[in-house]
Amino acid sequence: MSPLHVTRTLPEDATDAALRADVRDGLTADPKTLPPKWFYDARGSDLFERITELPEYYPTRAEREILVARAGEIAAASGARTLVELGSGSSEKTRHLIDALTSLAAYVPVDVSESALTQAGRALIAERAGLEVHALIADFTAPLALPGTPGPRLVAFLGGTIGNLLPAERAEFLALVRSQLAPGDGLLLGTDLVKDERVLVRAYDDAAGVTAAFNKNVLAVVNRELGADFEPDAFDHVALWDPDREWIEMRLRSRTAQTVKVPALDLAVDFAAGEELRTEVSAKFRRDGVTAELAAAGLELTHWWTDAEDRFALSLSVLR
Ligand code: SAH
Ligand code: TRP
Repeated sequence: MSPLHVTRTLPEDATDAALRADVRDGLTADPKTLPPKWFYDARGSDLFERITELPEYYPTRAEREILVARAGEIAAASGARTLVELGSGSSEKTRHLIDALTSLAAYVPVDVSESALTQAGRALIAERAGLEVHALIADFTAPLALPGTPGPRLVAFLGGTIGNLLPAERAEFLALVRSQLAPGDGLLLGTDLVKDERVLVRAYDDAAGVTAAFNKNVLAVVNRELGADFEPDAFDHVALWDPDREWIEMRLRSRTAQTVKVPALDLAVDFAAGEELRTEVSAKFRRDGVTAELAAAGLELTHWWTDAEDRFALSLSVLR
């Protein structure tokens, strides 16, 4: 059995410095924000896995349906020998792709969540004899130090995670991905599609309260890492559809007037009663928009696949 290679390009103290800067900037901004990548500590990753199993959260099932139906076509179009996956999480759906990619030599999952990476990596190595797994603990918005595994490469970015970036961040991200591809390499992108507002809002505000717990987990991360005294129960989970920007916005609304202390930053943050902190956006897409955003980054959309109910899309761009 080949060993699991794990490379950390995010030194623990750099994560700490980035977290401090993000929390300081976000909590002193107006309106207040906290950036989404800090959701995914071990508990956050577990809560996200529970979200993917909720009856209201359709994106995972819709994307899996497309992968199951189209893995053969994707494999034929890409011929990848290395599969790089950004924000791989549990790598659960990716198995369909790995099975279909008959020439695959290496799988490179990239995630900020070390716990998700090592769990997924160990499971894959146990199941897929001969597959090299190089897990990269890294921020996918920065240039990646990819291992020297054989090409062509297919970069997969699933789960609709691209929608968690703001439009300017998406443009920068896609240009960065493009700059790391060689001719014959491809990008497989999962995008959740614009649909009925009620369906969208329910997916981000489930009856069991798992998404609310996930949203509030970012407060627990700031408490643990920076010694803050956020009281998660003093905030309400809010999910709103913004019809102009076509994104779901996740917020935490302060139930009362309160002051939160963040000792590591020597900061006291006042919240008015009802004041909202924006924690995450999840943009929804249309085919024209995806095509245009890819084109702006120098990527040509060559394939577009959706599930039977047109809820979610996978697109493929292969570099000439
Ligand atoms: N691809 C999986 C998981 C999606 S959840 C799926 O489709 O179900 C988003 C994943 O991206 C999480 O595992 C999270 O830890 C990771 N992530 C979020 N921001 C990141 C960043 N900036 N760099 C690397 N990984 C990130
Ligand atoms: N990529 C997922 C999405 O946008 C992440 C996600 C799902 C999420 N539910 C969430 C992020 C709730 C924050 C809060 O669908």
